[in-house]
Amino acid sequence: MKSKKVAKRRIQQIAVLTSGGDAPGMNCAVRAVVRTAAFHGIKTLGIYRGYDGLLNREFKELKISDVGGIINRGGTILLSARCAEMYQQEGQEKAAGILKELGVDALVAVGGDGTYRGGHAIHKFSGIPVIGVPGTIDNDISGTDFTIGFATAVNTALDAIDKIRDTATSHERLFVVEVMGRHAGFIALETAIAGGAEAVLMPEVPYDLVEIFTRIEEGTKRGKLSSIVVVAEGAGSSMEIAYRIEKTLGLDVRVAVIGHLQRGGIPVAPDRVLAARLGKAAVDVLLQGETGAKMVGVISGKISVHDLEHCWTHTKKIDAEMVDLARVLAI
Ligand code: F6P
Repeated sequence: MKSKKVAKRRIQQIAVLTSGGDAPGMNCAVRAVVRTAAFHGIKTLGIYRGYDGLLNREFKELKISDVGGIINRGGTILLSARCAEMYQQEGQEKAAGILKELGVDALVAVGGDGTYRGGHAIHKFSGIPVIGVPGTIDNDISGTDFTIGFATAVNTALDAIDKIRDTATSHERLFVVEVMGRHAGFIALETAIAGGAEAVLMPEVPYDLVEIFTRIEEGTKRGKLSSIVVVAEGAGSSMEIAYRIEKTLGLDVRVAVIGHLQRGGIPVAPDRVLAARLGKAAVDVLLQGETGAKMVGVISGKISVHDLEHCWTHTKKIDAEMVDLARVLAI
């Protein structure tokens, strides 16, 4: 979307918040919102601690200088929270009322599906346009090929796997490595392919442990010194899987849970660029006159706009070609 200095719709003030699990690149998205708004002479109100902060009236006008020097910082300068009150109608109506009272013309909400649901309710009770920007390491939002933070999280998990491979090989061990992803296997699949894992277990793809055991055993017989089984946190207990492998194959097995390391760190370039594009697109969509509740994303390299509900009415599917790739190369 090309920027011209003419606002087609009279928007004077946009509010922006980050909510749910933080993701590397959220700061880049906030920066892009503030700068695009400023470019068009629009004020931005930063809301702290997500919907929690909105309900507690924690906000501050964000000037261009407030978002300087944050492009390379992980986490979110606006802080984040998971807000139980926003699951109740009372909380949703209160949040909508506060935004109206503040004279906010539109809300940009950076986060995952919980954030979108909250934004959808705010739109319902206030009529204020809400634009969701997909920011979650899980990449589990349909309507966009990638979410902000996913690429960085995969790189972090990969760095851990590369290091684990060193010690696993020295000791001729098998490691079960658990990665994040809540109910989704995107981080696990990408990390397994990039890290040369011997197997990957995801909640979306049924797996046969016996078949996996056989494959690992064949590899060991052929001379493989180590094996890595990547388990998405939603695919089953990594401790239980490790126990079964040890019992069945008699291998020396260890478990590594990477955990919240995956949520932090300097955002990699693809996350920064994605966040810059989506933050700007959110404001552009509003300038073009959007009055509903939408999400922006990138599909096949192009900015896409969907209804916010798209996120929970359509489940993002794991790419079968990628699953096959992981399986074939894990031989
Ligand atoms: O949604 C991001 C995520 O990191 C998931 O991968 C994980 O299941 C969850 O958040 C952990 O949440 P919390 O930080 O609240 O423990």
